[in-house]
Amino acid sequence: MENNREQWSSKASFILAAAGSAVGLGNIWKFPYIAGENGGAAFLFIYLICILLIGLPILNIEILLGRATKKNPVGAFKTLTNNPFWKYVGALGVLASFTILSFYSVVGGWSLAYTYEALIGTFNTPAFNTPLTAGDFFNLKNSNPLWVLGYHTLFLSIVVLILLSGVRAGLEKASKFLMPILLFILLILVVQGLILPDANKGVSFLFQPDWSKINGQTILLALGHAFFTLSLGMGAMMTYGSYLSDNDDIVNASYLVAFLDTVIAILAGVAIFTVVFSSGYDPTAGPGLVFHVLPPLLSDLTGGYFFAFLFFLLLSIAAITSGISILEVSVAYLVDEKQYSRKKAVLIMASMVYLVAIPCALSFNLLSDFTFSFQDKAFTFFDIADYLASNILLPFGGFFLAVFAGYVWGIDEVVRNLLIGESNSIYFGNTVFENKKFKSFFNFTVKYICPVLIFLVFLYSIGWI
Ligand code: PHE
Repeated sequence: MENNREQWSSKASFILAAAGSAVGLGNIWKFPYIAGENGGAAFLFIYLICILLIGLPILNIEILLGRATKKNPVGAFKTLTNNPFWKYVGALGVLASFTILSFYSVVGGWSLAYTYEALIGTFNTPAFNTPLTAGDFFNLKNSNPLWVLGYHTLFLSIVVLILLSGVRAGLEKASKFLMPILLFILLILVVQGLILPDANKGVSFLFQPDWSKINGQTILLALGHAFFTLSLGMGAMMTYGSYLSDNDDIVNASYLVAFLDTVIAILAGVAIFTVVFSSGYDPTAGPGLVFHVLPPLLSDLTGGYFFAFLFFLLLSIAAITSGISILEVSVAYLVDEKQYSRKKAVLIMASMVYLVAIPCALSFNLLSDFTFSFQDKAFTFFDIADYLASNILLPFGGFFLAVFAGYVWGIDEVVRNLLIGESNSIYFGNTVFENKKFKSFFNFTVKYICPVLIFLVFLYSIGWI
């Protein structure tokens, strides 16, 4: 059975696929608006520390657990320990994969819809004169359940078609084809942003910190986002790691993936804030930044029709390459643990996600009044899925991963396994690992820093601190 498991055709393919998973709506839709609301560069600085201190070690561990066991999250824990508790931690990943995709697919659908609207020139109509009218347009479209459901169906169908083709012909080919296009489009948008009048204001917003905006909550927000953006805490990276061969170098791959993810978030920030500032607009527009604010601002520019289309195409591509990694976790679970064929597994899981996503899609119309109050806020199904995934399931998963690596599997085993296939990585190289100081640093981060900080995020997210 194990010999039949598909593998990436090369290390580069894995890196592209993993970067494809990491680079998603989190980078292009979420990062700019949370950075905008939380002091720009000051937020960026804290976010970078979180990536280095917590994201990178956990990324290494997740990929490693996958490669070492060649299994999905449930199977990976089952292989490494007899304690049944850990199997449930793996199952939490499968649950998170459902929860995330149920709202991700709706936002992915919006991205496809806006790509189409850009193409047919809607952004040049009076509906997009100002961000306010654009917001009305967005709400009007969303008030039609068939519109939201239709685009959600389209998004999920694209994800299913890619997954049906398998690891090499599906996941790998899609990332190899789409990721270079994504980078290319992003660079065009960055260049056009930088030549706008007052572009420097947007750039300095991203690079000159406003420390007064930083408080405990910002730090915790940055940490939570580090998880989401690197696809950590639910087994996506573990599943991708399970298609790696033992000759591949995890440590270097993790650096590259984290680096690409961060650079792309920053570039997306530059592309967006240069446009926002050159129009004298407020960077703290919140989640509507991309859908309400950008279309009218972009369409005012020379060549705006083209840039708006490129922007939403970029967003759609990023959402698709992440969407496939989210669903692959539950598909791999059925294939490994229940011996389903890939086709059957994809169709069953996609149908279940489809159903779970319906209440999220209806949260903007038929079910908009159907809310639950929590911490003095009204949550629709969509809000609950987003909240549950980003603030509870992912940090929870990350916490247990660190505890498993640090205390159950043990740092010695982690390091011994990490060194298999390791070439000469930037500073994790063999010689450095021999160096006891370095090993004890890794030991310290995984055993203490990661669990404690993640625990704090968790307490914060449930409102206890
Ligand atoms: N990292 C993806 C993004 O930034 C989201 C994601 C989360 C993907 C968890 C897989 C697993 O959009």
